[in-house]
Amino acid sequence: MSFRDDGAAAVEWAARYLEQVGEYPVLAQVRPGDITSRLPASPPERGEPFADVLRDVDEILLPGITHWQSPRFFAYFAVSASEPGILAELLAATLNSVAFLWRTSPASTELETVTLDWTAQLLGLPDGWHGHIEDTASTSTIAALAAAREATGRNVVVCSEHAHSSVDKAAKLLGLDVRKVPADAEFRLRVEELDLTDAAAVVATVGTTSIASVDPVPAIADACASAGAWLHVDAAYAGSAWVCPELRWSQAGVDRADSLVVNAHKWLFTPMDCSLLWSRRPEDLRRAFSLVPEYLRTSDEVDSLSDYGPALGRRFRSLKLWAVLRCYGREGLQARIREAVRLAELFEGWVRDEPGWEVCAPRHFSLVCFRRDGSDADNEGIVERVNRSGELFLSHTRLGGRYVLRLAVGNERTTEEDVLRAWAALRQA
Ligand SMILES: Cc1ncc(COP(=O)(O)O)c(C=O)c1O
Repeated sequence: MSFRDDGAAAVEWAARYLEQVGEYPVLAQVRPGDITSRLPASPPERGEPFADVLRDVDEILLPGITHWQSPRFFAYFAVSASEPGILAELLAATLNSVAFLWRTSPASTELETVTLDWTAQLLGLPDGWHGHIEDTASTSTIAALAAAREATGRNVVVCSEHAHSSVDKAAKLLGLDVRKVPADAEFRLRVEELDLTDAAAVVATVGTTSIASVDPVPAIADACASAGAWLHVDAAYAGSAWVCPELRWSQAGVDRADSLVVNAHKWLFTPMDCSLLWSRRPEDLRRAFSLVPEYLRTSDEVDSLSDYGPALGRRFRSLKLWAVLRCYGREGLQARIREAVRLAELFEGWVRDEPGWEVCAPRHFSLVCFRRDGSDADNEGIVERVNRSGELFLSHTRLGGRYVLRLAVGNERTTEEDVLRAWAALRQA
């Protein structure tokens, strides 16, 4: 078989998968080791046809896939790899650019800058911010905090008790201490508890992982400005919502950030991995990361994006984001974000109206936190049973010491029918 035939079969496989994904159990129904036991212990001596690889994907691997592309994936933050994004990944792998210098792939470097600028316009961010792509928000936050350490010479990072664990991990890696600030009744960082005398940075979150709460960024920006601390805003999930003007209330103060992360692979319909990092102070990122050994020295008088983050080799990640922005346009992005918010609002209403159930936190975007009257063990049992049923997949958090269920809408294929099915399964469980 030729590359062309195998390629056609692979695209056919992908198209069929996307048509059928709603029929698969959302959470993989396997036990640890099940997949390993079905795989040969050693690699083949002689090459096999690609068709055999496709066959084994179906027969061996598919049962061990938790289907993030399922319309009833409601756990963590639900994501979508859209069709334009999937196809652009194929092109990026075909080109296999390694854009560590501008000259090693001028188009990759320049498209990345243009695409980040387009996205900044779509999200209503200030003009002139420097943007580049990292793999994940974890890496973007490492980059931002390294720049903050460089800029301030200080060693403390301050964030709310609800900040994502990637902040702790970045601090651990960079040798910084983390100081957690308690949150108020709506799960927002309490500004009056901020003490920034020795702070390199504050990480403010817009859309926290557990509840999608929004820290008071304007007041945090004031505190950072008077203390000379760096303000990094983690809007990994909720930042994509700013494509809709009615959700831009949550952007207040973000224009004063020194750096901002938004994950296009979370809620901007772009396949993993594509984390967008903007900075108002790119020179500080460069100071933290730029190293030019002899073998990378060139006469090109242009920036290399590897000077702004930890990795040297850089994939052509902007291609998939560019494809999504072009094929969906502002209107398509807005329609998808609005539909997710509408479905979450609908679900929230059902929970609120049903005796014996309770909404546990204000809903700002497309995440609903709720629980059934009863003990933590009862609620844990519900999550366990619905997830085991394969009908849907959701996750949990703990708020005020109580076990709370989370339903996150974000997959572009999710319909009202899917949310209804989830609600029916939950009530039955
Ligand atoms: C608010 C927030 N920040 C950061 C992250 C980490 O993202 P990543 O997996 O891209 O490192 C998450 C993950 O869900 C998140 O919810």
